[in-house]
Amino acid sequence: MRLLKTALVAGALAVLSATTIASAYAQETKIGFIVKQPEEPWFQDEWKFADQAAKEKGFTLVKIGAEDGEKLMSAIDNLGAQGAQGFVVCTPDVKLGPGIVAKAAANNLKVMTVDDRLVSADGKPIEEVPHMGISATKIGEAVGQAIVDEMKARGWKAEEVGAIRVSYDQLPTAVDRVEGAISVLKANGFKAENIFDAPQAKTDTEAALNAATVVLNKNANIKKWVAFGLNDEAVLGAVRASEGVGIAADGMIGVGIGGADSAINEFKKPSATGFIGSVIISPKRHGYETALNMYEWVANGKEPEKLILTAGALAKRDDFEKVRAELGIE
Ligand code: GLA
Repeated sequence: MRLLKTALVAGALAVLSATTIASAYAQETKIGFIVKQPEEPWFQDEWKFADQAAKEKGFTLVKIGAEDGEKLMSAIDNLGAQGAQGFVVCTPDVKLGPGIVAKAAANNLKVMTVDDRLVSADGKPIEEVPHMGISATKIGEAVGQAIVDEMKARGWKAEEVGAIRVSYDQLPTAVDRVEGAISVLKANGFKAENIFDAPQAKTDTEAALNAATVVLNKNANIKKWVAFGLNDEAVLGAVRASEGVGIAADGMIGVGIGGADSAINEFKKPSATGFIGSVIISPKRHGYETALNMYEWVANGKEPEKLILTAGALAKRDDFEKVRAELGIE
């Protein structure tokens, strides 16, 4: 009898502790934040602000770098296996869209994208996946305007200037950004034949440097250059390329997009380079807000807006600290 009693008590205790564990487990919110280029300062800032949201709301944030499709797919499986409920992702390739959506569903994970919007097989955006990106065309136009203003300040005439379009055309937001810049250059007298495409193999500085060097070497007769691309790294690559072929800072006007450490380190150099400005965008909105939106979705069933496009503000060497502070990203 005593034995039976002990067994019953032990059994009850076992059930009790299993329930406690289960409910603690159910309460834990775990969210993944996957980025395509973890070494890029922009993405580090996104993670930093996403961490802030996690701390505030008390959920677990799992940060994963996925530089290619294979890593991304196993990252999603991994999140599923460790009991996450959703993830935010900037994919290494937007064409993986349908695969990402299927993988997320198979793992019972909610998914939303940041920066780069998924496309389906026909190249159209997958609209049902909530997305936060930058207003690419507008920001590109701001880049173009900053370049034109600087050309005017230097007394340059459009016909004597070459433009380097550092391109990554498989990414729609990259196309929108550079085309935005080009529309303003053209409206200010730039001829199409003076705009040279420099396709980068990857969206980093080294790839942009290689691509821009080819353009500069092919057009050695042109001495004044402007450069733009999808981010600061692209434009820094073009600026490094111009330095490499002996063009001084006063012969280059590069304006980037981003405003994270890549740009800040350049602005902090003792003397000005050809990288004259950057349209600062907000890693706080892209990191903090997306993580928060995902949290609200998994914890409170509040679905995020399907499309949020964020703005940017031009900053230069002498005012970038002020602009960053105004954007609340210091
Ligand atoms: C893309 C670029 C990043 C950054 C983000 C901003 O993902 O590769 O460098 O500009 O867009 O949305």
